[in-house]
Amino acid sequence: MTSIASAMPRAAILGGPAAISAPQGEANRWPLITEEDEAAVLDVLRSGELSIHPVVNELEADYRAWLGSKHAIAHNNGTSALHGAMHAVGIGPGDEVIVPSATWWASVMPIVHCGGVPVFAESERDSLGLDPASIEERITDRTKAIVVVHLFGMPSKMNEIMAIARRHDLKVIEDASHAHGANYHGSPIGTIGDVAVFSMQANKLCPSAEGGMLLTDDDGIAERVIRYGHYERLLGMTTSPNRRFAATGYGLKSRMSPLSAAVARVQLRHLKARNAVRNRNCIRVSRELLTLGLQPFLAPAGSERVYFEFLISCPEGTTGVPVEVFAKALQAEGALVGAPRYPLLHQQPMFTEGTWAEIARIPSPTKVYDPMDLPATIAGNATLLKLPTFPQAGDDLLDQYVQAFRKVLHHSAELPRDTA
Ligand SMILES: Cc1ncc(COP(=O)(O)O)c(C=O)c1O
Repeated sequence: MTSIASAMPRAAILGGPAAISAPQGEANRWPLITEEDEAAVLDVLRSGELSIHPVVNELEADYRAWLGSKHAIAHNNGTSALHGAMHAVGIGPGDEVIVPSATWWASVMPIVHCGGVPVFAESERDSLGLDPASIEERITDRTKAIVVVHLFGMPSKMNEIMAIARRHDLKVIEDASHAHGANYHGSPIGTIGDVAVFSMQANKLCPSAEGGMLLTDDDGIAERVIRYGHYERLLGMTTSPNRRFAATGYGLKSRMSPLSAAVARVQLRHLKARNAVRNRNCIRVSRELLTLGLQPFLAPAGSERVYFEFLISCPEGTTGVPVEVFAKALQAEGALVGAPRYPLLHQQPMFTEGTWAEIARIPSPTKVYDPMDLPATIAGNATLLKLPTFPQAGDDLLDQYVQAFRKVLHHSAELPRDTA
């Protein structure tokens, strides 16, 4: 009888046939733009109203109806929406804000532009979000807020984090840029903190031609967001004392282009169905990889995650090789895998060289950032491997990916260690 071991073809990197032959272009294409998007954009274009157009308010109404939030304020991108959120919760000179290091810079840099001090805390190995215990350790009498990032579409531990925030009177900003459609214990992601932001940049789950949406139930936050970057709305706020700033606003201009809003409205209508395909495909692959001893980030009980990105953890203890060696062998099989895109922020020159303090206008900063800080985050990040999210893939491609992992794991002791 042929044993499974001898039936396993050789790894491609060792001269065997590549496991993946199914076409990948269409299977992984994103964003998905159809005639519906084109028609929506043309409508706006032909209206001649390219700056202020009701489609932006319609998009805001869509978000409010979808998430049940009291206020939805469209922005030109997620970064400016986060900046508005940080200002509106009251981050000012010297205020500390607890943030993850494993995120895109826009979750953190607006703090600095408000004069605040980012305080990096550990991310968890399982949820990829902020570790509640690490948050608690970093709270001081200067702490003002926490930025939670639902990284790659995985909900952070909001029950624990909100309890800490309420105990210490801190504001919670949800950066939900990766998590359109995710759910946490019955609450949609983006409705749990004091204010939330979704990016609609073109890679995102609900993309547009750049855009961001800020959501809050808090009237004061909404009004300060408008005052900060939406001067054109102030005249309409007839009973607000902020109306007197209509001629200047607070100096920023953050409104969304109607052309982007037109795309975003169409994309939002398809979000649920498109998320369902990614989820089905990524979960199918994840379950198989779990049986091989790898660690996909399946949603924990009570959460529904989405797949902005599909990361798995491949510890050397399981694979027998460093993740770069593992990735190179998978690439030889035809797999579109690689290291995660985000370098850890606390290791970047912006922080290690003190440039952040110049931007924050803090002349003699007491905060020093050590690139070796956050050992759990560093160790976890070093095991991550990024796969495609398979937004339109069929089972043949998914099965070939799993077979590529099987082969490479089977031959891991023979893999060349040279990753140059
Ligand atoms: C976690 C996170 N937050 C915020 C942003 C900023 O969004 P935008 O690119 O729309 O400015 C991004 C964008 O990639 C992101 O990944």
